[in-house]
Amino acid sequence: MGLLSVVLLLLLISVQSCWAQDDPLLPFSEHLDPEQKVRLKWGFDEVQDTILFQLTVNTSGWVGLGFSPKGGMTGADIVIGGVGQDGSYFTDRHAVGNSMPVIDKQQDYKLLSLTESDGQTVMKFQRSIKSCDEYDLPITTLPIKLIYAYGQTDDITYHGTRRGTKEVNLLRYMPRLTPPDSKYFDMIMVNFTVPANQTYYHCKIMRTPDFDQKHHIYRIEPLIQNLDLVHHLLLYRCPPGVTEIYESQCYTRVNSDECMEVVAVWAVGGGAFEFPTVAGLPIGGNVDDVLYRLEVHYNNANKTAGRVDNSGLRFYYTSELRQHDAAVLGTGLVLAPGYGIPPKAKDFFTYGLCDTAYIPQVLSQTQDLQVFSVMLHTHLAGRKVRVGHFRGGKQIDLLAVDENYNFEYQGVTNLGKTKTVKLGDKLLVECTYNTATRTKLTWGGLSTTDEMCLAFLFYYPAMNLTGCMSFPNLTALRTEMGKPDLNNWLFMMSTKTWNDTSINQYQQTLKRIDQFVIVSDSHKNISRNIGKIPDLKVVPSAPCTSGCDSERLAWILLLVSLAVLLAF
Ligand SMILES: *[C@@H]1O[C@H](CO)[C@@H](O)[C@H](O)[C@H]1NC(C)=O
Ligand SMILES: *[C@@H]1O[C@H](CO)[C@@H](O)[C@H](O)[C@H]1NC(C)=O
Ligand SMILES: *[C@@H]1O[C@H](CO)[C@@H](O)[C@H](O)[C@H]1NC(C)=O
Ligand SMILES: *[C@@H]1O[C@H](CO)[C@@H](O)[C@H](O)[C@H]1NC(C)=O
Ligand SMILES: *[C@@H]1O[C@H](CO)[C@@H](O)[C@H](O)[C@H]1NC(C)=O
Ligand SMILES: *[C@@H]1O[C@H](CO)[C@@H](O)[C@H](O)[C@H]1NC(C)=O
Ligand SMILES: *[C@@H]1O[C@H](CO)[C@@H](O)[C@H](O)[C@H]1NC(C)=O
Ligand SMILES: *[C@@H]1O[C@H](CO)[C@@H](O)[C@H](O)[C@H]1NC(C)=O
Repeated sequence: MGLLSVVLLLLLISVQSCWAQDDPLLPFSEHLDPEQKVRLKWGFDEVQDTILFQLTVNTSGWVGLGFSPKGGMTGADIVIGGVGQDGSYFTDRHAVGNSMPVIDKQQDYKLLSLTESDGQTVMKFQRSIKSCDEYDLPITTLPIKLIYAYGQTDDITYHGTRRGTKEVNLLRYMPRLTPPDSKYFDMIMVNFTVPANQTYYHCKIMRTPDFDQKHHIYRIEPLIQNLDLVHHLLLYRCPPGVTEIYESQCYTRVNSDECMEVVAVWAVGGGAFEFPTVAGLPIGGNVDDVLYRLEVHYNNANKTAGRVDNSGLRFYYTSELRQHDAAVLGTGLVLAPGYGIPPKAKDFFTYGLCDTAYIPQVLSQTQDLQVFSVMLHTHLAGRKVRVGHFRGGKQIDLLAVDENYNFEYQGVTNLGKTKTVKLGDKLLVECTYNTATRTKLTWGGLSTTDEMCLAFLFYYPAMNLTGCMSFPNLTALRTEMGKPDLNNWLFMMSTKTWNDTSINQYQQTLKRIDQFVIVSDSHKNISRNIGKIPDLKVVPSAPCTSGCDSERLAWILLLVSLAVLLAF
């Protein structure tokens, strides 16, 4: 055996050992056909505008996948590939009718691998999420009709009955699994009379059903009785010291403030959430009799009296434990009195910094975070939320972004792939607000007319962490703005002339001064450190390069050769 074959063999072995595990780049999977011979796995990166597919079909012939406007072949954007006697083939095509798909002039799909073994063909390829030419179909956040077909040989001819269609929401995929031994319990308000106040946060400390052993929650569904009243809700786990069951207005009792470990979130516009198959939210099996706090934000805009509400969450769980415990980490800006957003600002930025290097100061057992989903949260003035990811002083990614944040449509969204946040990495949550129509200062606070800037990260393996957030040194802010005294400060902020110059100046001061970076765990260990807000870049997406670039390159070559010819 030659050296080359040894290297190839080693490569093959390493590739296969990768396949043996769950691929963090391909977290989603669906069978497209009832016989389960055609399986599509996928993952995506909305920041980079790329989507990755792996199509596995039980055939040694050609395989095809298409994106169809109506579910049939007409107008569909199609890729066909396979491994034949002369090696592998792969083409980007489109269908004009129920006929042989035509090869696109511009090839926008990138083949990553194509293999055939045990009567199975595996084709892995990538494309941009949007469309690169008139024959490609853009992938959106709405469901799309996927069509598939395959042959028994590598001769690409009529597929007969080896075809089908399935509608899947690729970018907002939420599986609906029914694992064995699936049960559920609800955590809800019961006959709660909502006060006639515009903003009201109600808190209820409660117990889950008794579990003799540990279970995993794998799905969380909202049970919202009054969609016009319930704005968002959160479920927190309480530290072991909290033992009293009660309900009352939130943040009016010392005890309720202690339950700060977020385990579930829902907000207006959100739907059900299902965990990836490698992780579940642990429940039961602990020696401690843990309590939970359900917090419901009621937004009673009309201040109607006497409305009764029974909203909350439904938790589906299984005794079949998954590989990892999952958890939620709150990041962003801590609400601090005295933090104000000026009126008349079109793009006002606020920042919250999480420095994971400080996690070991509160926890003895620490791990890197595998982040798979995120919920971004601001109130009414929020327009954009970006979560920058920094390593070794450099920005390496945007962990999550919402460039069109809408208060009415919030939900837990999957990142498209599992992203690793290494201990030592920094995460910067940047919120952009528009207060152009406001005449008064907007303070940080709980009401929907106050503001927040938060990103809840869903990750595994779970650590006993509650938050990793920051807020500016407000003493430094007041000093820099010339009003070190708190009372003067509030008056000055409220009466100041806010125009572009003063807004910009305040904005730059806010960003420049030191941040207090707070990391807290479920046992109330808290670390306080100083941090600086790094500059956040918007990572440009790099789509449609293959076709367009080669075309541009061809033009350049042509021009150069012309120039050379003319020179002689
Ligand atoms: C598809 O092929 C794989 C590998 O050969 C095999 O394990 C599986 O049972 C096949 N599935 C069907 C539905 O034939
Ligand atoms: C809630 O109110 C309804 C209607 O008044 C009543 O039938 C029900 O028994 C109440 N539930 C509880 C737990 O009090
Ligand atoms: C609700 O509004 C009334 C009238 O403005 C006020 O007296 C009361 O304190 C408010 N209650 C809460 C819980 O905010
Ligand atoms: C408030 O009252 C107005 C007028 O009666 C009605 O149109 C609107 O739907 C109500 N809004 C809510 C949130 O109940
Ligand atoms: C965190 O708190 C617990 C309980 O109070 C304590 O046992 C543990 O040592 C603390 N961890 C660190 C890193 O300080
Ligand atoms: C978290 O704390 C609990 C005690 O409340 C402990 O049993 C568990 O081992 C801790 N988990 C981790 C990952 O440190
Ligand atoms: C906050 O800023 C003030 C004013 O610059 C400074 O005196 C103080 O030491 C800072 N606090 C901390 C904890 O760094
Ligand atoms: C903004 O207001 C300040 C007074 O507070 C004034 O000196 C300045 O000229 C104004 N700038 C602009 C661009 O209007």
